[in-house]
Amino acid sequence: MYRILKAEMLADKIYLMDVEAPRIAKACQPGEFVIVKMDDRGERIPLTICDYNRDKGSITIVFQTVGASTEKMADLKTGDSFEDVVGPLGNASEFVEEDLEEVKKRKYLFVAGGVGTAPVYPQVKWMREHGIAVDVIMGAKTKDLLILEDAMREQAGNLYVTTDDGSYERKGMVTEVIKDLVVNQGKHYDVCVAIGPMIMMKFTCLMTKELGIPTIVSLNPVMVDGTGMCGACRITVGDEVKFACVDGPEFDGHKVNFDEAMKRQMMYKSEEGRAILKARE
Ligand code: NAD
Ligand code: FES
Repeated sequence: MYRILKAEMLADKIYLMDVEAPRIAKACQPGEFVIVKMDDRGERIPLTICDYNRDKGSITIVFQTVGASTEKMADLKTGDSFEDVVGPLGNASEFVEEDLEEVKKRKYLFVAGGVGTAPVYPQVKWMREHGIAVDVIMGAKTKDLLILEDAMREQAGNLYVTTDDGSYERKGMVTEVIKDLVVNQGKHYDVCVAIGPMIMMKFTCLMTKELGIPTIVSLNPVMVDGTGMCGACRITVGDEVKFACVDGPEFDGHKVNFDEAMKRQMMYKSEEGRAILKARE
């Protein structure tokens, strides 16, 4: 059993939990994810690791309620437990594995959209821990849905916050801030890391392609087994079929077929759509 050490509501339908998982906390790296299961019959829910404390033996997960399983999960309180937490799964962010001196030479821009702020956070923290100051753009629909702002401000070199409705800081979507920084302010970036809803990553990639900035995205399609066996998380990257759970979750954003990924995500929302996808696999 994996005990919940802290359960907190960050915003409407968005929850944070610290979970006791010493083995995962010891091994995990930014970019990796876990699959949690509440009980025997519970759905397996993939969640990117938002933070980890190796001394305490805990990991932090952030999730949004989108259906019955996540709503049930939101009812869990401090002291309750998950039956199973499997991980760390997937691959660490590319820069974790690279020569640190090479990473230090690059200027990074992180783009975090909505709940996607959670997986961006450990990457920005890693950068700070290795003496690298990065620029971070955080976008949310409205002020009340902005999460982890103070934590991110502590780790980022520069933080640019924007809300779609202009209720806080800048007004507009993250892509408008990218354009402002690069085109109007003349900033240069060697790499962009964009994580958020699929539609945000699609439009961010269209813009960074135009601006000539290589871009990495982290995909979270529907996952079932998390081991590359079931095919649920299949995506197309360039001309290749990939499985987000074992080949990703991070990919070259300029090569990802976002339209196909979004179509599959929509189909998974209905029973009929799931049956069609299963028959094709
Ligand atoms: P949201 O809809 O509030 O969007 C967040 C920000 O993305 C917006 O504020 C805006 O700045 C930007 N954005 C949205 N549409 C855009 C567009 N068309 N062009 C440019 N920018 C755009 O986000 P949310 O409600 O927090 O998102 C929830 C979704 O995020 C879920 O579908 C979930 O699956 C996904 N998600 C993805 C990851 C991941 O690892 N990729 C992690 C957590 C959540
Ligand atoms: Fe089954 Fe990726 S979740 S192949």
